[in-house]
Formats: sequence, structure tokens, C-alpha cells
Amino acid sequence: MFNTIIAIAIGYLLGSVSFSILIARYLRKIDIRQHGSGNAGATNTLRVLGKGPAIGVFLLDIAKGVGAVLIGFALGDNSAWVAVAGGLASIAGHNWPVFFRFKGGKGIATTVGVMLMLSFLPTLLAGIAAIVIIVLTRYVSLGSMVFAVLLPILYAAFGESSAYIWAGVAVALLAVLRHRKNIVKLMNGTENKLGGNKKGEQ
Ligand code: G3P
Repeated sequence: MFNTIIAIAIGYLLGSVSFSILIARYLRKIDIRQHGSGNAGATNTLRVLGKGPAIGVFLLDIAKGVGAVLIGFALGDNSAWVAVAGGLASIAGHNWPVFFRFKGGKGIATTVGVMLMLSFLPTLLAGIAAIVIIVLTRYVSLGSMVFAVLLPILYAAFGESSAYIWAGVAVALLAVLRHRKNIVKLMNGTENKLGGNKKGEQ
């Protein structure tokens, strides 16, 4: 139990290191949450700062999830539940970062890192589906939600353990919850397209 709490605490603190906020502050002296969609994540970094910083943010946010799961496995003696707890805590940290007044991102890149570490193949397939959706529609938010919702379905289809399937359910719910505003904009036709209209920006 003690180790689970430590894994959650470390995961949450790691997730709370918001790289989009730090990189935007460092490169442009701006708060990324006041620009573009207002989201502290890789997609908005692309919009506001361009490709290079966005790729950096994406990889670093993935690394937070990877690190949190590895720490969970190490602390929990390879327990799936401790790894899941640490991983979910890192996504919560990314979304509600303690270091940045609890206003963070939508957790997709960190979810990628967490879920790749739990089970590589179903996560990869969900990622490929997301990329296809994004290429076809240019809506990153739609691709992100498809990715997250596919995770528990594919994990179940691959016969993963219940800890991992529940992790998939949790990340899918979290992703849809965090994309509430995007869903409204998608329905209104005002959602930002990758490299396209700026109608949906705040
Ligand atoms: O992962 C975030 C993405 O799905 C949407 O980001 O900035 O367009 O709201 P944004």
C-alpha cells in the first residue's frame, strides 16, 4: 500500500511538469494557456510555437507517462495495479498540474506513454487509427478521442489483464471529459483544423 501511494505521488509530480508551459515560457516568454486553444499540450504548441517545439513537447509528455509506469513497476515489484496507479497519476498531473495552478493539458501524449508501456501492440493500433483520423479530418481532438476510446476495446480484444483494461477505461473517460469543449466545437463546425482555420480559438 505504501509503495502504491509513493508511485501515485511520484507519477503525479512527474505529470505536473508541464513541458508546453515551460518551453513556451522559455522560448517566447508567454503562457501557452493564453494562446491558441489555451491548452497546455503538444497540439497547441504546434499552433503557437511551431513544429520543432511541438515534437519536443510531444516526446517529453510521452516520456512522463513512460517514466511513471516504469517507476510503478519498480516500486510495486512488477505489480500491474501499482504501475497503472502511477501511470494514471501522471496523466492526472499533466491535466491538473500542481506546479501550474492546476490548469494543464488533455493528457493524450502522456496517455500514449503510459499505455505503450502497459501493452505495446493494442496501443500502437489505437495510435495508427488516430493518425488515420487526423490525416483524413485534420481534427487532432477527434483523433485523440478515437485513440483513447479504442484503448479499452483493443486491450480487451487482446485479452489483457483486468488492471490494464480498467486503465484503458479510465484514460478513455478522462480523455472525453477533457475534450468537452472540443466536442462542442466539433459539433458546431468551429473546431481548429491542423494547419487550418483559427475559428475555434479562444
Ligand atoms: O491532445 C489535445 C488535442 O486533442 C486537442 O488540443 O489544443 O486542439 O484543444 P487542442
